[in-house]
Amino acid sequence: MAAGFGEHSDPHSLPGNPSAANVPFSEAGLEFPFEKAFADLGKGWLVCGSPSQPRLHSMENSRTPGAPSAAGSATSILGYLPPTPPEFLGDRYFTQQHQLRHAYVGGSMANGIASVDLVSALASSGNLAFYGAAGQTPNRVEEAIDELNRRHPGGTWGSNLIHSPSEPTIESDVAELLRKRGVRHVEASAYIDLTEPLVKMRLKSLRRLASGEVTSDLSIMAKASRLEVASKFLSPAPDEWVQRWLQRGEITEEQANWAREWPICDDLTAEADSGGHTDNRPLSTLVPAFCDLRDRLGKTLPRVNSVRIGAAGGLGSPAAIAAAFALGAGYVVVGSVHQSCVESGTSAVVREHLAKAGPADVIMAPASDMFEMGVHLQVLRRGTMFGPRAKKLLELYRNHSSLDELSSVDRQRIEKEIFRMPLEEVWQLTRQFFLEREPSQVHRAEEDAHHKMALVFRWYLGKSSDWANRGIADRALDYQVWCGPAMGAFNEWVQGSSLEHASSRKVATVAEALMQGAALHWRLLDLQRMGCSIPAGPWATPDFALNNFTLDKQPNSAVRYR
Ligand SMILES: Cc1cc2nc3c(=O)[nH]c(=O)nc-3n(C[C@H](O)[C@H](O)[C@H](O)COP(=O)(O)O)c2cc1C
Repeated sequence: MAAGFGEHSDPHSLPGNPSAANVPFSEAGLEFPFEKAFADLGKGWLVCGSPSQPRLHSMENSRTPGAPSAAGSATSILGYLPPTPPEFLGDRYFTQQHQLRHAYVGGSMANGIASVDLVSALASSGNLAFYGAAGQTPNRVEEAIDELNRRHPGGTWGSNLIHSPSEPTIESDVAELLRKRGVRHVEASAYIDLTEPLVKMRLKSLRRLASGEVTSDLSIMAKASRLEVASKFLSPAPDEWVQRWLQRGEITEEQANWAREWPICDDLTAEADSGGHTDNRPLSTLVPAFCDLRDRLGKTLPRVNSVRIGAAGGLGSPAAIAAAFALGAGYVVVGSVHQSCVESGTSAVVREHLAKAGPADVIMAPASDMFEMGVHLQVLRRGTMFGPRAKKLLELYRNHSSLDELSSVDRQRIEKEIFRMPLEEVWQLTRQFFLEREPSQVHRAEEDAHHKMALVFRWYLGKSSDWANRGIADRALDYQVWCGPAMGAFNEWVQGSSLEHASSRKVATVAEALMQGAALHWRLLDLQRMGCSIPAGPWATPDFALNNFTLDKQPNSAVRYR
């Protein structure tokens, strides 16, 4: 942010500027060096002097307006800078309920990219974070959950539960595992409609406390990018399912009754232009639309009113995070930027690639899990050919109904450039994979040649993520790396700072820098509203934000983080 925004020489001439009244004020408390006072976000400051040279005075020892000072001098008060520590950004009820320091969430990243170490680092620094369970076998998820439970029993971490239309048993197995292990936070994502495993999980978590109050042992943070989907999460469980589960004795009569009053989620993230699955919606329209929907549905289902709306997608700089809170988000969710951090489950070579990306180095490409439906996701473009190659496969799938229909030119080209083996060999590998994981897929493919084609093509889409995560050098041009424009924005912000290189990006430090930076940005905006010019300074840099931070300075540092 440029120093010196606010070009007005006299704020009193601004129409309707209530904070800029020239109130005579004697001894407005001690003046502090601008930089020191500005950075002390936990304190409120009186802004004195002139708009072109604002001076910050302590609130301590200040006298009442109009009272004569010892020296008899009067000073102009331009306004009041309220305390703005990062802990004050977002919905305070959200941070309080989840026992967080920041309204900051590390979003799930598939295939363990949101690794145990990444989740653990965020959880132990006062944030909420979700393990990247998607694409993992239930055994791997179980190991990760057990490790997180060991490191942070009852802590501020959770796991992803991803809607998997092509592998429904995986979704229900993971849901059951999370329930049995008593995982307290679940990020439910990629849902187009509600599913039974998710809804049953919600209802089974409801119980009555000794006080008589009904509570849920599970907090569900749902993620959506469309209002139709959002409204399903903000509605009660479908009655038909509730009655069926009641008859089968899978839920109690009380749970069936409470089902009418409880929405499916506790928090609902509006996902805009993010890495991975995205509809590329603008955050500025999506967050307010989700807030309006919540308020509307809350009129008929009162519990919906307490659902917090979060913001995800494109949050890679302090200004973007401050803007998300200004839009009404109760919390923010970050993904792409975390993938470039040392704890992420991807390879060092991918982290290096990510740290060099610019905001435009991303592209939409077909998604493996919803390939047949033509769903796309956002990936890194720089240094990889994955995007165009995956698009070519989707085009062939759409224009042909079986592998046998492919022209010999197309077949040879994809066997040589993309698969590096005959398609029949790819099918044998794919068949073996699905026999172990979801055998119904193999049976279907043996009846349906178009489905077999999809599974063969999805082999490449699945493998390309794996090659990237393992850093297989020979397949560098095929790396599939989910990534949104937030990555480039972050890289631009940290250029020349201690966070420039991927090898120095620790996720808790990155989160701290972004939240401190957002709070500093908020303070700059407060000054701007008073018409002040900001003295030249390093206000917007990551190192200023980080040097500024000491935990014991923060107002609620007494909170214990687990
Ligand atoms: C590499 C990567 C993998 C992701 N995998 C998942 C996932 O498995 N489940 C999910 O709910 N969201 C996933 N996301 C989305 C993130 O949780 C988060 O919502 C999103 O990245 C926020 O937008 P941003 O990328 O602009 O920060 C993924 C994002 C990235 C970058």
